[in-house]
Amino acid sequence: PTRALRAMTDQEPKTLEDLNRIILASEPLVPGATRAVLGEGRIGSELAFVGEQPGDQEDIEGRPFVGPAGKLLTRALDDAGIPRAEAYVTNAVKHFKFEQRGKRRIHKKPTAGEVKHYRWWLMKELDLVHPRLTIALGATAALALAGKTVSVTKVRGPMGYVGLDGKERQGFVTVHPSFLLRLPDEAAKRREYDAFVADLHAAHELAR
Ligand code: URA
Repeated sequence: PTRALRAMTDQEPKTLEDLNRIILASEPLVPGATRAVLGEGRIGSELAFVGEQPGDQEDIEGRPFVGPAGKLLTRALDDAGIPRAEAYVTNAVKHFKFEQRGKRRIHKKPTAGEVKHYRWWLMKELDLVHPRLTIALGATAALALAGKTVSVTKVRGPMGYVGLDGKERQGFVTVHPSFLLRLPDEAAKRREYDAFVADLHAAHELAR
């Protein structure tokens, strides 16, 4: 949130519960979302995964990564030997943004300004969860961590980022699972899925 918004919350959250209460009470930047979708997982998880923003299903259920991209992420984590229950999973942006087309709500990518708006919360959240390694899933999450545009293709792999205290944190950049869902042919899908699982495995090794 902006400085002004943060001032309205009058106190810096000291616990994840406090932070989550503030996030839940916040209005979406762009009206429409049912609720804020909070991160999920244990404090002190080795790995924290950051996605873009909740999708249609996540907005309905109020949990991150439960729709098609989430199911693929869960399967890839499993294939990489990472039980999802042992990881922390969250999003750069906490509210679903969409365009209504008939009955369907079509996901709209958050702008850099929207990512920036939520960035302080994400950084605070990561500080409170305190993972060994934070994995950015896709460009929006990488932008949120780095505070500047990151090319996933170029940076893919380890990427340090600076926390709210000005100190370096260990990060890692890989693709977003929805990128895999959008690939047109089966061979590319399989190849990119394997590369994604290999990244998750490498990230897990790095965090040990
Ligand atoms: N895509 C994301 O980036 N996050 C979710 O929670 C679901 C889909």
